[in-house]
Amino acid sequence: MNRRLAISFLTFSGLLLSFVSSPSLGRPSKENRPSLPSPAVGGVDFTRDIQPMLVEKCFQCHGETKAMGGLRLNTRADLLKGGDRGAVVEPGNSAASRLIHMVGGLDEMKMPLQGDPLTDSQVGLLRSWIDRGLEWPAADGESAIRPSEPTSGHWSFQSIQRPRVPQVERSDWVRNPIDAFVLRRLEQEGIEPSAEAEQATLTRRLSLDLLGLPPRSGSESGEGSYAYEGRVNRFLTSPHFGERWGRKWLDLARYADSDGFEKDKIRLHA
Ligand code: HEC
Repeated sequence: MNRRLAISFLTFSGLLLSFVSSPSLGRPSKENRPSLPSPAVGGVDFTRDIQPMLVEKCFQCHGETKAMGGLRLNTRADLLKGGDRGAVVEPGNSAASRLIHMVGGLDEMKMPLQGDPLTDSQVGLLRSWIDRGLEWPAADGESAIRPSEPTSGHWSFQSIQRPRVPQVERSDWVRNPIDAFVLRRLEQEGIEPSAEAEQATLTRRLSLDLLGLPPRSGSESGEGSYAYEGRVNRFLTSPHFGERWGRKWLDLARYADSDGFEKDKIRLHA
């Protein structure tokens, strides 16, 4: 084969190859996105990552009041049931799930039907959630999502209950009911409680925890638990206790004396 012929042959086969291997022929929706975004790495939390996305992006048409395409997304059972055209998810296999094809742009019909499409990382989270078997926090997986009511096993969403004080083997070690909870866990793990620290060490810990500063040297001596409780109470009534914890809470509330940036005006009533 002479050189010119070889070049035109290569060009031709290159063209042919790109023609044959292009998955997007005649399917404009695939052209920009030949493959799905990959599943999210790291943890997926239904309450944090999935539920708000469904509520914001899908509920308007697939929630309690509307089931467009025959599909509701507010219980796990509804999701598994699918829509007019059958199943939309295959637990454990997001790549084969129609819902993922639709939000990822691999299907003629793209979801959400209106509004901004899901970002790659949102599709990745949905994929990872499906791949891990569609975890749904309510024990039976049946309870409905209501936008105003978080469904979570997280302790901060639970109503307050008085737990039973656990039975422990070394009951002589327990001085108050809280100790019983600590000791119960230690016994479960086969761990011995540490010996009580010296008074000076306890005082130093108290002072650092409650006031944020080491104790004045030579202050605070005394023996026994009575003296210890007295010290706790004294630290708790100190204005420095308020300063230490006030600073933390004000940080959380984004407190500042002034506005910052280039017009750094004082906030008179901050
Ligand atoms: C503005 C309304 C609207 C929004 C928002 C919307 N959808 Fe849809 N969806 C529809 C309609 C309408 C259909 C039925 C289309 C048809 O079959 O002709 C449908 C169908 C579907 C189907 C296929 C059901 C079947 O069996 O055919 C899936 C899966 C789906 N939507 C998922 C979603 C997801 C996930 C979201 C959120 C990311 C979403 N949709 C947001 C309107 C919407």
